Amino acid sequence: MFHSDARFKTVIEPFRLKMVEPIHFTSRDQRVAALEAANYNLFGIRSEDVLVDLLTDSGTGAMSMDQWAALLRGDESYAGSTSFRFFERVVQELTGFAFVLPTHQGRAAERLLFTVFGGPGKIIPNNSHFDTTRAHVELTGAVAQDLPSPLAADTQIEAAFKGDMDLVALEALLSRDHDRVPLVCVTITNNAAGGQPVSMANLRAVRALCDQYGKPMFLDAARFAENAWFVKEREPGFAAQEVRAIAEEAFRIADGTWVSAKKDGLVNIGGFLAFKDEKLLYPLRNLLILNEGFPTYGGLAGRDLEAMAVGLQEVTDEDYLRYRARSVAWLGKGLEAGGIPVLRPFGGHAVYLDAKRLLPDWAPDDLPAQALACALYVEGGVRGVEIGTLMFGRTDPATGRQIAAPRELVRLALPRRVYTQAHVDYVIEVGRWVAEHPETLRKLRVGWEGPALRHFTARLLLHSGE
Ligand code: F0G
Repeated sequence: MFHSDARFKTVIEPFRLKMVEPIHFTSRDQRVAALEAANYNLFGIRSEDVLVDLLTDSGTGAMSMDQWAALLRGDESYAGSTSFRFFERVVQELTGFAFVLPTHQGRAAERLLFTVFGGPGKIIPNNSHFDTTRAHVELTGAVAQDLPSPLAADTQIEAAFKGDMDLVALEALLSRDHDRVPLVCVTITNNAAGGQPVSMANLRAVRALCDQYGKPMFLDAARFAENAWFVKEREPGFAAQEVRAIAEEAFRIADGTWVSAKKDGLVNIGGFLAFKDEKLLYPLRNLLILNEGFPTYGGLAGRDLEAMAVGLQEVTDEDYLRYRARSVAWLGKGLEAGGIPVLRPFGGHAVYLDAKRLLPDWAPDDLPAQALACALYVEGGVRGVEIGTLMFGRTDPATGRQIAAPRELVRLALPRRVYTQAHVDYVIEVGRWVAEHPETLRKLRVGWEGPALRHFTARLLLHSGE
């Protein structure tokens, strides 16, 4: 429950530190050399050459003392471990789903689920598929259909629930291609659309359509607690409810869920699948045994199950969620005031910088969002991730030019419980410096790229016109 004192406005970190991990300072020259050696691909930079690492909020959080204590309780028995039973009970109480399968992370759960539900000719709708989700759907030969709210396309509209699913488009799909849709998925929060939340009203409306067409509904609930926080803050009728109750309600609207616990599970590794239909148990459990491990550990150590169970209970703490949302908003407001356009409103786990608005004259071939990400690294040792043409565009084989992605964003994702306000203020200062020194932004070109998921391994070059 919320214990902050309304007389004082500063939102302090709701924890104190018990152990510290040093971070390494590098000179600008060292970072220029490191970036060149990494072929202007920030995935190729060594972590010790990064000062503030905002590449992802996935698996990068700090565990609490209760989670570290729980690790020691880990029961490493191959079958029937007590750690599994504890974890299973925690997930059952949170989600209301009877059947719980642990996986090593979110994408392993996706692989199991879409092996069962996917296949050639199928269409899987989602408000927005995350990239691994899309890849697993497509691997089976199915089509991954994004149906985001039309509001999501505008980076500036201040709407409370830009993560919602487009209900008109979903109904049109279900009425037209009813036989091809095996299930309906909703991602909370909507990562690909900027960490934007989905309203309870939207979840209920998706449920009603699923009922009408007899389809199961699954939540990709990696950030379920952040979503519940925004429902409490923004959706009429929820202000007086506890976040934990809101999260429980959201899960109970659906028939099943998969969760990357590396986000709101507050662990460095872990995930799970949970669902109510016993008919799914047999095929999913067999795939689990084949791909991950026996159902009472599923690709994890017993101690990981303990830490994940404790994390799932801790994450709905409202002082923590208030601090988290306010940290993201603080970063976003500061960068915006410093001259960097950002996606509005601020989401739950990250700030998204809008490179297209910062560099309106640049062509997609210049990779403007990657150039911005590189400048933040060179100038201040801050690492973000490009979500633009490098990640979602491709090279046209006929012309060698880039086929642009719809948006040119840089995501600065905040790891959970890791950085303090001073780190965030520093990132704001670095952003301001880059905005005030446009010569730090240097056009790039794709030199070499792999056949799939090119952004992880591509080699880039400075544009020779530089
Ligand atoms: N679903 C969503 C919405 C995600 O954001 C992610 C991962 C996954 C599924 C896959 O989970 O990584 O445990 O296999 N997102 C990370 C990110 C990688 O940086 O946003 P995973």
